[in-house]
Amino acid sequence: MNDIDVTVREVGLRDGLQIHPTFMPTESKIAWIEAEAAAGVREIEVTSYVPPKLIPQFVDAEEVTRRALAIPGLTVTALIPNSKGAERGLALGVHKLNFVMSVSKTHNLKNVRREREESVADFARIVELVRAQPEGRRPRIAGGLSTALGCSFEGRIPVADVVKYALLLAEAGADEIMVADTVGYADPAQVRAVFKAVMAEIGSLPIGAHFHDTRGTGLANVGAALDCGVRAFDASLAGLGGCPFAPGATGNIVMDDLCFMLDSMGLRTGVDLEKLLEVRRIVREALPDIEMQGALARAGLPRNYLRAEERRAA
Ligand code: COA
Ligand code: ZN
Repeated sequence: MNDIDVTVREVGLRDGLQIHPTFMPTESKIAWIEAEAAAGVREIEVTSYVPPKLIPQFVDAEEVTRRALAIPGLTVTALIPNSKGAERGLALGVHKLNFVMSVSKTHNLKNVRREREESVADFARIVELVRAQPEGRRPRIAGGLSTALGCSFEGRIPVADVVKYALLLAEAGADEIMVADTVGYADPAQVRAVFKAVMAEIGSLPIGAHFHDTRGTGLANVGAALDCGVRAFDASLAGLGGCPFAPGATGNIVMDDLCFMLDSMGLRTGVDLEKLLEVRRIVREALPDIEMQGALARAGLPRNYLRAEERRAA
């Protein structure tokens, strides 16, 4: 699609809700997805195919997926930790499966209870499973690398390890690679080093970035990744988020602020900023106890603000 310059992907319904103890009613999740799609967000990670015993928030994963798939033009994605998750997604006809493994050995063991090599082998099996589907029922498969920029168990993660696992997932058949700063350790210089190294190895395979704003470096990291040529970013409305299996994890970068920054830079996202800000009300009403971030929501749009599209047309 060339009417947008950067793809922004909402992950709040997955990353934002997985750490939240209160169940968000299914109808509110659907209202959030519908409103955000109507605001112009084209890709939403709507849920996670993990055992509901482990994360009860996703007990309604099947219903949420089915209803999201009914929204025209929306790319519906979901997180998977293993083949069982992939099978659930395939049965539903989800558009994209976001497989997750960690570059940190310790976090991979805590999060998905596997050695990293076992996760890579799982991923290869999942790719086979996906490729065996009839055309038209074949989702895209993203290879996600958590804790790629730091780990709250291990600290710094060697760049060579990120490159190694990115390459293994690419060789196994990933349609795209996602590099994630799960616990918000990264800074722009590190982002440049890691993304440049990974991109040099995976060639033209699409790459996306997933940042958390735990230490206030989130949007600066987006700027650094943009400089490297990254054109797909995860974010969550109002900055919800965090991994329940990583100590000290907090929210993703704020979707509303990300969209404003990109648009302000002249990069079209397809998102209507005013409409996006209104979606926050759905979240606030459904989860009054959740902490919501957002500079744009606090400060409002600049006077006489012209959207990237309008400036381009002028
Ligand atoms: N969806 C639903 N059920 C699943 C499942 C999935 N994706 N994967 C496994 N199960 C079920 C199995 O069928 C089995 O059920 P049973 O007890 O009724 O027989 C049970 O869960 C245990 O299966 P097992 O393969 O032994 O899994 P595990 O207990 O070793 O857990 C993971 C491994 C990967 C499923 C689990 O660690 C996980 O979901 N981790 C992801 C955590 C997460 O979401 N982190 C935040 C996002 S980064
Ligand atoms: Zn995350």
